[in-house]
Amino acid sequence: MDLQEQLRWTQSADAWSRWAEQVADPAIRINMPLLDLAAAAPGARVLDVAAGVGEPSLSQAERLGGNGLIVACDLVPDMLRTLRARAAGRTSAAPVPVAADMTALPFPDRSFDHVLCRFGLMFVPDVPAALREMHRVLRPGGNAALAVWGNRAENSLFDQLDQCLDTVLGPDPASLLPPLFRFADPAPLLPAARQAGFAAAEYRTLRLRTMADGTRPFWRATLDMAFTPRLAGADTMATARLHDHIASHYRALADAQHRVEVRSAVHLLCFQA
Ligand SMILES: C[S@@+](CC[C@H](N)C(=O)[O-])C[C@H]1O[C@@H](n2cnc3c(N)ncnc32)[C@H](O)[C@@H]1O
Repeated sequence: MDLQEQLRWTQSADAWSRWAEQVADPAIRINMPLLDLAAAAPGARVLDVAAGVGEPSLSQAERLGGNGLIVACDLVPDMLRTLRARAAGRTSAAPVPVAADMTALPFPDRSFDHVLCRFGLMFVPDVPAALREMHRVLRPGGNAALAVWGNRAENSLFDQLDQCLDTVLGPDPASLLPPLFRFADPAPLLPAARQAGFAAAEYRTLRLRTMADGTRPFWRATLDMAFTPRLAGADTMATARLHDHIASHYRALADAQHRVEVRSAVHLLCFQA
């Protein structure tokens, strides 16, 4: 188990809990094509690894409409507490939360039809071990569908917020952002998947563009969720200065209708067991 990652995400769990419902709609724009790739049929057994506070497990639960099993696994129990609370407010059958490291899954061989992993693989030090575990728990003919971020320049909000943080708080000693873009070039994951036992591996890139309302702090959820450990070191005055700086940064970028373009790029990978 990687203690640094465990600490990072345990520290971040409150922010993820606070913002979970407000970011659920934009999350769906990534969840839907990811679930299309997995193509779970009614009755399917689905494992979501690095499930966080429920993306994409909760979308998958809605799709299966109670006909199937979803297990949501994450390293951090506090993330799963929020997932459980979110699931309780919905009509679809709740995913079963299991705290576990994705490099040592506590499930028998061939126990799932699909494995999902949205924005999780990049945080695992031993990627081959994670891929081997995904393959081991899948039945032959099943698949794994994964989402990883594309390159930093195409993910404008992360990139710009990081620059604002550098300006106001100074350089980041913990380098929180680079791991997000570890698979900006996803090509090396294809032979890695075959090495782990998958029969076939492919990917495509999803590019999204949103015009955000520049008169509102549309950037706040991303700031709080992605940069929690960095913000924890800032006092109230520094945080206020940071918020002012970000707001004026986006005022300067806004168009005549006060809209700000937010671009993102996500690689969607599918591995056949
Ligand atoms: C960026 S969040 C993604 C959460 C969710 N899938 C989503 O897309 O909103 C990364 C998650 O990976 C989890 N994580 C990191 N390393 C892990 C590991 N080795 N095994 C299982 N989960 C891990 C973290 O606790 C965190 O919840």
